[in-house]
Amino acid sequence: MERLKHDLVIVGSGIAGLRAAIEASRVSPSLSVAIVTKVQAMRSHSVCAEGGTAAVLYPELGDTVESHVFDTVKGSDYLADQDAVERFASMIPSEVYQLEHWGMPWSRREDGRIAQRDFGGYSHPRATFAEDKVGFYEMQTLYDTCTKFPNIVFYQEWFATSILVEQGEFGGITAIEMKSGEFASIAAKARIIASGGAGRLFSFATYGHSSTPDGMSMALRAGIALKDMEFFQFHPSGLIPSGILITEGARAEGGVLLNKDGERFMKRYAPGKLELASRDVVSRAIITEIEEGRGFRDGDGLEYVHLDLTPIGAQKIKERLNGIRELAMKFNDTDPIERPLPVRPVCHYTMGGIDVDIGGATRVKGLWAAGEAACVSINGANRLGANSTAECLVWGRITGAAAAEYAMKRSDTSPSDGQAAKEEKRIFDEIFHGKGGTNPYEVRDELQRAMDEGAYVFRTGEGMAEAIRVVKRLKAQDYLHCDDSSRRYNTNLTNVLEVESLLLAAEAFLAGAMARTESRGAHSRRDYPRRDDVNWLKHTLAYHTAEGVRLDYSPVKITRFQPAERHY
Ligand code: FUM
Repeated sequence: MERLKHDLVIVGSGIAGLRAAIEASRVSPSLSVAIVTKVQAMRSHSVCAEGGTAAVLYPELGDTVESHVFDTVKGSDYLADQDAVERFASMIPSEVYQLEHWGMPWSRREDGRIAQRDFGGYSHPRATFAEDKVGFYEMQTLYDTCTKFPNIVFYQEWFATSILVEQGEFGGITAIEMKSGEFASIAAKARIIASGGAGRLFSFATYGHSSTPDGMSMALRAGIALKDMEFFQFHPSGLIPSGILITEGARAEGGVLLNKDGERFMKRYAPGKLELASRDVVSRAIITEIEEGRGFRDGDGLEYVHLDLTPIGAQKIKERLNGIRELAMKFNDTDPIERPLPVRPVCHYTMGGIDVDIGGATRVKGLWAAGEAACVSINGANRLGANSTAECLVWGRITGAAAAEYAMKRSDTSPSDGQAAKEEKRIFDEIFHGKGGTNPYEVRDELQRAMDEGAYVFRTGEGMAEAIRVVKRLKAQDYLHCDDSSRRYNTNLTNVLEVESLLLAAEAFLAGAMARTESRGAHSRRDYPRRDDVNWLKHTLAYHTAEGVRLDYSPVKITRFQPAERHY
């Protein structure tokens, strides 16, 4: 086992991870900061973010931080912690300008100032954008900035496997260097988990295939709860058949949703906001249209509705939506300048995540989480579009500063080899050299099918009970083994570890979802169609135990906005 040492280790190289590394380095340029990522940093899933970063930039046009807070809380179906949302909305404008100073090529208004567009669930246009490639440009800007700090070291294509905790305090991580297959322990004084969400629990997803809940599973195995995992976002416009994201920005620019009768059906579901109602509302409307026979069906039986961008016009599509135009032409053979796109709701975001406080701290001393891996919670039961890249920036900054200050004060740490040696044995003796007849890829496929069927836009107790049965059966199977016996770039090994993470996250998700006998935001139960604030205005905490998932609950922080019925 190789032994390495840094002051701060960040696992994940998306927007939250890179922003955290920069902030930590600004707090203390002498701090040794390691970014450990299982991909090449610029292949992190954040590069796929398309539509925007929400921020109040133009109060002179009537927008206010309070309105951003209210829209976010209403969008969350009142499950967001309002103190966290207040901190978020007041901090994000300066992050947008900070990126600008680091070189971010924001799109421009006619007067040369930063452009903003409307987005779902907002009462003002506040999605700050760079064409329809916001994530790519933000990543490029942050990555470039990281390279200016000599104290930041990248461990690219290193797969982190566990958290080392001694006497309740973080001591380091274990990881596999994928190029050599060598196992390492990386001692550190502090850590930030910024490894993204769990959307690959579903097969029809906007997520890259590498977006598996490895960080969440590490936290679970270290005794930390996942919070509100039952809330998964289904984005209304996943391109048929791949699930690639067609940005909400397309509807903001004038795209309309049509059923097979050519009707703009959103007027029946959200007369005030139409296609720009919140995502949970629009996704339910699409599925209702399909279920009531007003959808289309392709040759493979896939059902969908039309997203018609032709009203936007060729020039604006080329200027502002060129990325999705290219994707639609490549992956659906359709030019949206000429014809409507076939779309249906697609798994897009994990509202839940590692339980952290408003500062991003977990209950393990020295361990923080940020971005989609974490649940602060500003998104509650349903996130508004453009608040995710924004959250990554804000809590990347907050956790980067907090972890740096903590690391500066902490004396040197050298975790004993015991835990790391145990993890090495688990990975290599039990999995790499493991024997078993069950194909892990079939386990993953079956898991995704069970989630697609049992936990999609509308849910029932019966459907989720069946998904729980499938997950239990799959977990009990002997899939933890490797067919590829070489050490170098053994993606078979890392894929098996990813399947293990998916199953752990699925268990937490389904236990919370089954217990929550109400409908709130994206958790929409046919057997419990109403929101129940008396019994369920609370966060779910799911712990991993040898006996299965243990559930607990924590209160929602309400500061200014009492729960009210949502209308769009
Ligand atoms: O539709 C989109 O561009 C997605 C944005 C988001 O999820 O924040």
